[in-house]
Amino acid sequence: MNKRHFLGTLAAAVLASSAGSAFAQDNTFKIGLILPMTGPFASTGKQVEAAVKLYMAQNGDTVAGKKVQVILKDDTSAPDVTKRLAQELVVNDKVNVLAGFGLTPLALACAPIATQSKTPLVVMAAATSSITEASPYIIRTSFTLPQAAVGIADWAPKNGIKKVVSLVADYGPGLDAEKYFRERFTFNGGVVVEALRVPMRNPDFSPFLQKVRDDKPDALFAFVPSGEGAALMKQFIERGMDKAGIKLIGTGDITDDDQLNGMGDATIGVVTAHHYSASHNSALNKKFVDAFGKANNGLRPNFMAVGGYDGMHVIYEAAKTTQGGRGDALLAAMKGQVFESPRGPMFIDAQTRDVVHNIYIRKVEKVNGQLWNQEFDVIKDVKDPGKVK
Ligand code: PHB
Repeated sequence: MNKRHFLGTLAAAVLASSAGSAFAQDNTFKIGLILPMTGPFASTGKQVEAAVKLYMAQNGDTVAGKKVQVILKDDTSAPDVTKRLAQELVVNDKVNVLAGFGLTPLALACAPIATQSKTPLVVMAAATSSITEASPYIIRTSFTLPQAAVGIADWAPKNGIKKVVSLVADYGPGLDAEKYFRERFTFNGGVVVEALRVPMRNPDFSPFLQKVRDDKPDALFAFVPSGEGAALMKQFIERGMDKAGIKLIGTGDITDDDQLNGMGDATIGVVTAHHYSASHNSALNKKFVDAFGKANNGLRPNFMAVGGYDGMHVIYEAAKTTQGGRGDALLAAMKGQVFESPRGPMFIDAQTRDVVHNIYIRKVEKVNGQLWNQEFDVIKDVKDPGKVK
């Protein structure tokens, strides 16, 4: 379908929707859930899908008298596929909301579709600051890299880390992590002596880590997307970085709960900043982690899962408020929601449509034979620094 034809079809679908008749008798509330279920980022898809299912198991599959139907599509983490799937979900399935989005380019590819069709789009996983600015119909329940990067940049210089090399995946969230870490760390008196960027997919870290060894910093600050943390850790240890006295710090993506137990004891002591740890100490989180494990063969939920779970909460609450609505009314009901998440208190800023939450400083520790990101400090109610102008 060419672009003009698509826009025409889309306009017709939107017209039908505003005329009301096509949907008035429709007794379903449809969620088009697009995730990478195969390929290198399949762990994100699996985590988010499991969380969506858990939310529905706990909260029922009807809202405002309508049956909730989740239509799950695998985009294989290819943006052109994500875009095609979003078009089909809007035009053919007439979904009330689009959700999921495992990586920044996948979310950005769908922003024009959300805008043109006035379909709210809930980003449950991707985390580049600018995503919410790509369409006024985008709401985010994941996090932003600047939120996490600034947290660790405040902690490090107070804890003897003055000279750092940064290493990030070379695309949106990595560039955010690099920039916001460097700005805050430098402001706090630290120095970033080298900024390294690795390919987003299947990176070989070894040549980069060799450079880090030669630079002899106090620490390496790293961001890699969920799914790649274990490979980074393995090569960090193989290169003898820890033995050379170089510490590892980063955003919590590198000590991802999905992989942490498999990374081994060399991770003990790694300090990161993030919005979610599976060991977050609250009754709600204990219940979430427990139920998630029971339903998924012992799998531990990671920060992607919590983004999916909270995304479902935002969607369900907005569906209740609007009697299973769509478009601008549904979007308005998503803005400004305040609730308790397994991560802690959480709020959708009505102005920016982005998530405001606590950022925790955590250290990997072994507790009862398992590795956990143990939270030991908190920065409360952090807005995305990428939007605080
Ligand atoms: C992203 O592509 O926005 C992304 C993916 C994985 C992460 C963080 C950000 O862990």
